Amino acid sequence: MATETTYNYKVVRQFAIMTVVWGIVGMLVGVYIAAELVWPELNMDIPWLTFSRLRPLHTNAVIFAFGGSALFATSYYVVQRTCQTRLFSDGLAAFTFWGWQLIIVLAAITLPLGITSSKEYAELEWPIDVLITIVWVAYAIVFFGTIMKRRTKHIYVANWFYGAFILTIALLHVVNSAALPVSLWKSYSVYPGAIDAMVQWWYGHNAVGFFLTAGFLGMMYYFTPKQAGRPVYSYRLSVVHFWALISTYMWAGPHHLHYTALPDWTQSLGMIFSLILLAPSWGGMINGIMTLSGAWYKLREDPILKFLIVSLSFYGMSTFEGPMMSIKTVNSLSHYTDWTVGHVHSGALGWVAMVSIGSLYYLIPRMFGKEQMYSMRLVETHFWVATIGVVLYIASMWISGIMQGLMWRAVNEDGTLTYSFIESVEAMHPYYFGRFLGGAVFLFGMLIMAYNVWKTVRGARPVEGTIPQAVSA
Ligand code: HEM
Ligand code: HEM
Repeated sequence: MATETTYNYKVVRQFAIMTVVWGIVGMLVGVYIAAELVWPELNMDIPWLTFSRLRPLHTNAVIFAFGGSALFATSYYVVQRTCQTRLFSDGLAAFTFWGWQLIIVLAAITLPLGITSSKEYAELEWPIDVLITIVWVAYAIVFFGTIMKRRTKHIYVANWFYGAFILTIALLHVVNSAALPVSLWKSYSVYPGAIDAMVQWWYGHNAVGFFLTAGFLGMMYYFTPKQAGRPVYSYRLSVVHFWALISTYMWAGPHHLHYTALPDWTQSLGMIFSLILLAPSWGGMINGIMTLSGAWYKLREDPILKFLIVSLSFYGMSTFEGPMMSIKTVNSLSHYTDWTVGHVHSGALGWVAMVSIGSLYYLIPRMFGKEQMYSMRLVETHFWVATIGVVLYIASMWISGIMQGLMWRAVNEDGTLTYSFIESVEAMHPYYFGRFLGGAVFLFGMLIMAYNVWKTVRGARPVEGTIPQAVSA
């Protein structure tokens, strides 16, 4: 086949561009729901615009549409480059692109209509779940098929992380979504009561561990060394990191269910595994950041590297905070409060979004035969805007979350509650505005990115990379 001399960049390009588009859409919905928490009248008494319906739209859009597209784009790029071969099947790869876009559109229609399984991060109803399974199997075939036809002997560590992400998500999705349909748009989970909760948070936590972490670590292990122009700090550590992380994550789910009907020992097990998780997480963070050792000066000038390294710092921060929040006594304060939301976004915006943005700034010009983005000054501006946005967001949530927790548990000497619930809601108001502002600033950064991407790709000729003929190990 003549095409075998080139890589398939088309699907990488498609997913890369859609990452920017879905990032803006998902974050716009995030900013809107943040605004609704400040000005509740913004729901305008229209059911589709209520917080409860738009919130899952936000989470699905940012995690699966934005994060998912970033993972598809980068995994397809990385697996081809590191295996020095074209994707296993162009047709199946195209199917995953269009199938994934269709799933996103279906989510965007059904969620505001209130069609939901009500399982967090797995809200989509069964026909869409079936479609997800089909597309995911196609993804696995393309990815692992490419690994199997590789021309290099070695399988680079980034592919191990991407591979674990693909396999685990398949398992999680199929097990957690098992449901009995009662109509086209309504089904009920096959699991009863506490078992349903357990399965759901086994899924939920591993969605964090494998969707929002392992896949993005794959990204980190390719793009950070590439952008730094140096090999990864310790290859041995990266392999230890991989095995330690994937064997620990699976057990940590019950920390989402402290003080519930779940057997107490499972809660303690979840807590202990969460504490252990700190070690591999920090091993990975240190490995990524230390890749710059001997080349720290590059951090001064290179905004792409800034995105990548700062994302690792946020990764370290959220993987320190997570284990702390999993300690039962800490969780008794943090659970149900905005502290959790702050933790989520230090991971989601600080880590997931920033590592994706950095990687896209590396990737997009290369997909269009350009050396770099149209304006590196705008990349630099984006970096500062994004950093300020995240910090505003998470600082607001920490203050409001801890205050909320303390207000709820404060009791007078006679045992009555010191504060009514509405007093705690009133106290939250300024911090909700802070979060709205932080989110809006972050979104503004994404618009700067969209402009820069537009100027970079407009009129540019898409390129197909040439596969080197001499194979390196
Ligand atoms: C060592 C790693 C981590 C541990 C042990 C951990 C632990 C925790 C704990 C204890 C909670 C609160 C559960 C509750 O009270 O309901 C939580 C919530 C959450 N974390 Fe983490 N976390 C870690 C890393 C991360 C990262 C890197 C991200 C994102 C990229 C993340 C995303 C989330 C999300 C989305 C939730 C909210 C789940 C929900 O209630 O909807 N976590 N995490
Ligand atoms: C402009 C940026 C963003 C804004 C303004 C924003 C805003 C929000 C708001 C207001 C909520 C609801 C909080 C609540 O229920 O009290 C939320 C939840 C959530 N967002 Fe975002 N978000 C943004 C970006 C992101 C990104 C990029 C991700 C993931 C990659 C993400 C993942 C989540 C998750 C997982 C939750 C559920 C948290 C939980 O259940 O504890 N967000 N977001």
